[in-house]
Amino acid sequence: MDKLMEVRDLKKYFKTPRGTVHAVDGVSFTIERGKTLGVVGESGCGKSTLGRCILRLIEPTEGEVLFEGTDICSAKRRELKKLRKDMQIIFQDPYSSINPRRTVLELIAEPIKFNNIIPNATETDIENRVLELMKIVGIDERLINAYPHELDGGRRQRIGIARALSLQPKFIVCDEPVSALDVSIQAQILNLLRELQHEMGLTYMFITHDLSVVNYFADDIMVMYLGQVVEKAPSEVLFENPMHPYTQALLSAILIPEVGANPHHIKLRGEVTSPIDPPDECRFAKRCNYVTEGCRKGTPPLLEVSPGHFVACHCIKPGGINTLKETVVEESEEICPCPPIE
Ligand SMILES: Nc1ncnc2c1ncn2[C@@H]1O[C@H](COP(=O)(O)OP(=O)(O)O)[C@@H](O)[C@H]1O
Ligand SMILES: [Mg+2]
Repeated sequence: MDKLMEVRDLKKYFKTPRGTVHAVDGVSFTIERGKTLGVVGESGCGKSTLGRCILRLIEPTEGEVLFEGTDICSAKRRELKKLRKDMQIIFQDPYSSINPRRTVLELIAEPIKFNNIIPNATETDIENRVLELMKIVGIDERLINAYPHELDGGRRQRIGIARALSLQPKFIVCDEPVSALDVSIQAQILNLLRELQHEMGLTYMFITHDLSVVNYFADDIMVMYLGQVVEKAPSEVLFENPMHPYTQALLSAILIPEVGANPHHIKLRGEVTSPIDPPDECRFAKRCNYVTEGCRKGTPPLLEVSPGHFVACHCIKPGGINTLKETVVEESEEICPCPPIE
């Protein structure tokens, strides 16, 4: 296996006046070169923090991030600058991540100039490279002097993609890249990302709160809940045999084409454990329809239940033996497991 990225027991804690937020709390995974790892979970479960930590845009509290074998957490400034070109990020809202007072030309030229991608380049060389990138991401060359507000959301996201590609990266964190776009445009951007992956051999970490998006896109899926991984598996395994009660609830919330809402939609109780100094128990226990006394005894380890399929649940034993029994809970507020993102 050709591991491009390997993350070991990564933690990111934020100290706040109210206590310590355990935003990412002991996350491990690997991504093979040329593949896509989908990272799913509700808003606030730590997806963006994870994505930023592995690019060292923010400093992890603990853990290791190996990129082609180099630990980026201990990399010195010069080495990090070199690594940064290989590792890029695309954000959810292209409008807030680009300067509205710059033209398309200036926006795409900026990272090329800043990183001195074309040594001794003239303005014409840069413009030619920008035109080339515009073609690759599908922006009409006549828009080279347009400002972001003159473009629709899909084209603005294409600028974000062109900026990332301008550095010829190996790895891109896509942080909810289509969540802010109309559904019709979502598919176009997803197709573009996929084509680019095949053409350029890119490796992605694809973050989304929407499982139906990663189904289409990811080779492996990692489901997060309050800073921890609750289930991880090849996509088809996760969709066919979701084992963790949280994954089951997330999957049941997906709309079925021509049917709409799934009639077997699993409702969860609304009481969410706080990420601030969380207790040493299963973090999903308060919302779980299968909760037992045992669920309060420590954080469940992530066990491999079948080759490549990992689950962290006190009621799922080695070998995939499932002891989940639905517990009768009193009527309480029920909320959809997948509220719209902020
Ligand atoms: N700079 C920060 N200071 C304090 N808490 C933060 C900070 N950034 C994120 N958090 C908290 O960390 C948790 C994870 O946030 P985030 O990574 O943005 O989640 P997601 O991307 O899954 O929505 C949330 O509880 C959030 O409030
Ligand atoms: Mg986020």
